[in-house]
Amino acid sequence: MELSPDNIKKVLQNVKYPGFTRDIVSFGLVKDIQIDGAKVNVSLVLPKPDEKLTSKISESVRTVILETPGVSDVDIQISARQPKAAPPGQGPQKAEKSAKLPDIKYYIAVASGKGGVGKSTVAVNVAVAMAKMRDKVGLMDADIWGPSIPTMLGIKDRPKATEDNKIVPLNKFGLKLMSIGFLVNEDETVIWRGPMVHGAIKQFIEDVIWDDTDHLVIDLPPGTGDAQLSLVQTAPLSGGLIVTTPQDVALIDVKRGVQMFRKLNVPILGIVENMSYLEQSGSGEVIDIFGRGGGKKMAEQFGVPFLGEIPIDPDIRKGGDGGVPIVESHPESTAAKAFNQIAETILNTIEKN
Ligand SMILES: Nc1ncnc2c1ncn2[C@@H]1O[C@H](COP(=O)(O)OP(=O)(O)O)[C@@H](O)[C@H]1O
Ligand SMILES: [Mg+2]
Repeated sequence: MELSPDNIKKVLQNVKYPGFTRDIVSFGLVKDIQIDGAKVNVSLVLPKPDEKLTSKISESVRTVILETPGVSDVDIQISARQPKAAPPGQGPQKAEKSAKLPDIKYYIAVASGKGGVGKSTVAVNVAVAMAKMRDKVGLMDADIWGPSIPTMLGIKDRPKATEDNKIVPLNKFGLKLMSIGFLVNEDETVIWRGPMVHGAIKQFIEDVIWDDTDHLVIDLPPGTGDAQLSLVQTAPLSGGLIVTTPQDVALIDVKRGVQMFRKLNVPILGIVENMSYLEQSGSGEVIDIFGRGGGKKMAEQFGVPFLGEIPIDPDIRKGGDGGVPIVESHPESTAAKAFNQIAETILNTIEKN
């Protein structure tokens, strides 16, 4: 077998990113491969500077390359994206910024350990609340397997493509919007596999015309898997939000969410407890259904901010199904006020950095 960059690339597809099921090639970590006689030069870029990660990956890369017939020597160069600390437009982030990345200042990821906890509800309402406070806000639905933003915002249109194959985001409630649900039918999304997901997420950042977007809220798929890593590889996240409900079964997954963001070097903006409690409409009596306060305790335990609690409110569900989020339809409700407060806290946190 003759040595070639393509052969080496195939070999590198056997190296998994530590802690994830996907390989380093499909995640876009491999920047360059050069062959110099019997010597192979590889350069890699990691999502964050991390000695342990660097040595782990470089060891695996070294091993598989040296096992390749015809190879006598290998040189591995590893660089890393800088942590998101410098103000936008300055500092190290700019230097690493790919030419394809749009001019978005703040990427805000909304995550949850499991589905059904209200991640999309929080993403949508926080984004609409932000759009009342800032001019240029966008919302991207990256939940490939269960896109719900089209329904939650009452959108039936499909985005248009330009001649140079860019996608024009839709507009509603002052937001620029993109969702996988705009492009494919509901039953088509379930068969998506890793590399397609990676491609779609990359495309949603790079090939959508996010001109005039300063803040982009991103609704991630539930869990702590490959889509999350794909996003981090593509865009410099300003912070991640974790949504949970108060039951123990949901809280177990909060830990995974915190660990994931820490592993990927994404600052944690905080935890939101959704479906915290129920307020009786007549008496105002508060009923604790799922064990209110669990989210706050988790936040304290992990040393991350607690951003607020959202009550169970039938108007939230109606708003989600009917396409008008509660911050629009019932701005005076306790839930809407809580969403506004969360949006404000997030803006203050990310813009301060
Ligand atoms: N605080 C709440 N009160 C009432 N219904 C809610 C609340 N939060 C979410 N829901 C409803 O629960 C369902 C699941 O919420 P969703 O945001 O789609 O969850 P996820 O994105 O985590 O899967 C939706 O029908 C939504 O309208
Ligand atoms: Mg959802």
